[in-house]
Amino acid sequence: MLDPLPLESSDAERAAHYEELLRTIDAILDGEDDWVSAMASVVCELHHSFGYYHWTGFYRVVAPRLLKVGPYQGGHGCLTITFDRGVCGAAARTRKTQLVADVRAFAEHIACASSTQSEVVVPVIAPGGHVIAVFDVDSDDLSAFRAVDAKALEKLCKTLGERFEREGRFSLAS
Ligand code: SME
Repeated sequence: MLDPLPLESSDAERAAHYEELLRTIDAILDGEDDWVSAMASVVCELHHSFGYYHWTGFYRVVAPRLLKVGPYQGGHGCLTITFDRGVCGAAARTRKTQLVADVRAFAEHIACASSTQSEVVVPVIAPGGHVIAVFDVDSDDLSAFRAVDAKALEKLCKTLGERFEREGRFSLAS
């Protein structure tokens, strides 16, 4: 496990940290075909490697336009989010990363924890184009996430979408 990178880290430091982490995650997931084990391992590695990650987890598409919480670390998370609610719902609905510098400025935000100030949510998209999950990171710091975080998490989620494509069977109807 890497020492947690602080909020004040530069873009270059973050990029290098993600690069190393993504290599570690690749090695950990080598040959792993269980989606829950994979999600749990990804969450664990990332959550403890950044000082500004305060809630880290997956929401899985389990029915058309319906997300249910998956493996996570941090405080209690909402169990169910529909595609029309929250930053997670927006990521699933639009299939686009949501980089929210201040959650108070995002009308749809669901406040599972009042301490959350900023967040990034990245959809996990299978090669067929359907969303199988979203990866959600919340921070108690304002503007915690930058383009460098989003880019690295998108790279990770692209790999997960390719590897676990079959898990997205429900979202085909969405
Ligand atoms: N903040 C998210 C909800 C999930 S949790 O906070 C764990 C959202 O608005 O989608």
